[in-house]
Amino acid sequence: MMLFHGPRKCRAGVLLFSLLILTTFIMLVCKNKGRPISPSDPMLKWNSFQSSVQFHPTVEFVNETDIIWQIPDAPKAVLFLAHGCNGRAANFWDRSPGCPSCVGLPEERLIVLQALSRKLAVLTVSSEGRCWTFDDEQTKVKWIIQWWVKKHELKELPIVAIGASSGGHFVSSLAAELNFSSIVVMIAEGVYDSMGIPTSYPPTLFVHMPKDRMRKLQIKQNMRALKENGVDVAEIRCMEFPLTPNFLSDRIPGLDETFSVKLFELFREKGFINENGYMRSDGRRTRWKDALKEREPAIEKYEWADHVQEEMNLAFSYHEMTSLQMEDILRWFESHMS
Ligand SMILES: *[C@@H]1O[C@H](CO)[C@@H](O)[C@H](O)[C@H]1NC(C)=O
Ligand SMILES: *[C@@H]1O[C@H](CO)[C@@H](O)[C@H](O)[C@H]1NC(C)=O
Repeated sequence: MMLFHGPRKCRAGVLLFSLLILTTFIMLVCKNKGRPISPSDPMLKWNSFQSSVQFHPTVEFVNETDIIWQIPDAPKAVLFLAHGCNGRAANFWDRSPGCPSCVGLPEERLIVLQALSRKLAVLTVSSEGRCWTFDDEQTKVKWIIQWWVKKHELKELPIVAIGASSGGHFVSSLAAELNFSSIVVMIAEGVYDSMGIPTSYPPTLFVHMPKDRMRKLQIKQNMRALKENGVDVAEIRCMEFPLTPNFLSDRIPGLDETFSVKLFELFREKGFINENGYMRSDGRRTRWKDALKEREPAIEKYEWADHVQEEMNLAFSYHEMTSLQMEDILRWFESHMS
């Protein structure tokens, strides 16, 4: 079992305890409407795929933008991934000799690893500006996907897509023009207000965080509109969950357990988390870097500051890319591939 391997056997007791807590709260984290996540879906550690999948992406510059991709042996589908505002393709991949400027944000990298492990060829593209736009850029990305699929002889395979936030809006619009077999619109309501929904529109899964109540309402309306147009729709609601002392080191490559515990204690001391370990506010609005700098003046050089912030946003569950639902997402894709 993943959580127990490695040189930490002497800490099996502590780990067992953490595992129990993890199993309990993962059951609470995401309730897939109609089908609760089973406790056999553990919250994956950052190195869960170390023995089965390695990152060796190819980086290219095409039509004035960078694309980063990887094709596993015997791929059975193509996955296009669209980041949110301020994101870029490099966030999805760990830094490696083939991609020295890759970032490997914790959620993005686990999305890619899980997709690769299920034999999806993964294509990531950077937006031109800070966020995605819908005219020329959509035409261009459509061109890139079709060109890439053809070049790598993947044309016979189904194409699926996940877009988060601005990327979710982008994918919702691109799906009216490109023949996806199904899509995931994450933490976004989609741009259905401003487009006609074609009858061939692909099955659409909304993965969202209902703490964002405005968006929750818009998603509800859009789900209804899609259904009325005969589109297969579903949703997964992602709920907040408490931090544990090991949470950050479990999820972030290169952040060690001692430091994870230290951060957890700091967050508790400063009141960033409540007595039950829940984030009191979004990671973006928590002045944790300042608090840490007081104690560890060398913070600027730590590479994982964005990584920590992403995991805090995830635990708060208002607006963040999430890989916690990948098992359900992959099942959604696989059940619409016939
Ligand atoms: C992308 O670049 C190729 C090669 O330079 C070009 O032929 C094609 O028209 C471009 N596509 C778009 C949509 O700009
Ligand atoms: C769309 O893709 C499906 C397979 O994913 C294929 O059966 C269908 O013919 C395609 N439709 C068009 C218009 O290309």
